Amino acid sequence: MIFVPVDFLEEGMILAQDINFDIGGMSLLTKGQVLKQNYIDKLQTMNITGVYVESKIAADIEINQVLSEKIKKDILISVKNIFSEFSRTNKLTVGAVGLIKNVSEKLVFDMLSREKILINLIELKGHDDYTYQHSLSVAVLSVAIGIKLGFNEENLNNLALSGLLHDIGKVSIPKEILNKPSRLTTEEFEIVKKHPEDGFLKLKNSNMCSIVTLMGIESHHEKINGKGYPKKLKGEQIPLFGRILAVADVYDALTSDRPYRKGSFPSEVIEYMMGNTDIHFDQEVLTAFLKSVAAYPAGMLVSLSDGRVALVIKNNEENTMRPVVRVFNEDGSQYSDIDLFHDKRYHNLTITGMGYGKEITSSTMMNNVCEINDFT
Ligand SMILES: [Fe+2]
Repeated sequence: MIFVPVDFLEEGMILAQDINFDIGGMSLLTKGQVLKQNYIDKLQTMNITGVYVESKIAADIEINQVLSEKIKKDILISVKNIFSEFSRTNKLTVGAVGLIKNVSEKLVFDMLSREKILINLIELKGHDDYTYQHSLSVAVLSVAIGIKLGFNEENLNNLALSGLLHDIGKVSIPKEILNKPSRLTTEEFEIVKKHPEDGFLKLKNSNMCSIVTLMGIESHHEKINGKGYPKKLKGEQIPLFGRILAVADVYDALTSDRPYRKGSFPSEVIEYMMGNTDIHFDQEVLTAFLKSVAAYPAGMLVSLSDGRVALVIKNNEENTMRPVVRVFNEDGSQYSDIDLFHDKRYHNLTITGMGYGKEITSSTMMNNVCEINDFT
């Protein structure tokens, strides 16, 4: 299968994955479905960067999910319930908290059962309300980091809950501010800045969450350099859960479509985050994170520094910026796979960007990519 950004989808391509559209479990499009223009129009309105379609040149590529679709749906339903209960009543019932604790434990259990945790581009994107989808993503990304840092299951459960509820304080923010498509005023930002403490205090009053979970929620907007909020904590003054949530939160926010901008690709966001090590992010946490996400997901077309377009075949966990890629010969009929990390002969060869939108001159290669007629 090959990954195609939504803007490059064309009629006749065949879906290589189910696209879950509705929180109740209805699948809008299923694997094997031939894309029609009205489906493409719908996909372009969803918060997804792209989809996987069938391709002969990439028939051997497999995408491993870190979480089952069933658990994702259960989590989204629980998050939705707890957020709406909280916004209606301003407090939480034992039942709602019990339910979310239960799904967060399932999330951890499911992730721990995976042989390898490497989060893919579209795994965490969907059509649901951004707040709920974002809560799920932050929990999954945080747990992936926690696993890499060697957390035990109890700590991972606490961390998952912290991720799912990190923004629950936002229910008190007026919708006009929360969904404002333009830049917030200073006054509006001051209101937004209250949500970590708001969430912390209200959950604390419910007496149903561990202190580490609560401290993570309270500190998820702190920055290593002390310029975050609410307490302007520095370095290790910031609770570890807060440092983890900060990385997961920013990564998911920047890779998601928002009313005021389009989501960026993982590699671009990763570059940005690496540039902010020890400014915004904790180095050890970021290193664990970088081993958990695919900077260039398998199935993605990339352009190389020698001008060629290549297909990402497999990620190297040691360095996801340098995956195994499939490059094509001049006539496009044959290919060879290059391991950009392990094969020293290619250490000067770098990925310079996405391969989409570049003119691919080889007609044979185009013919080999069944269902995809044109990438330009
Ligand atoms: Fe937040």
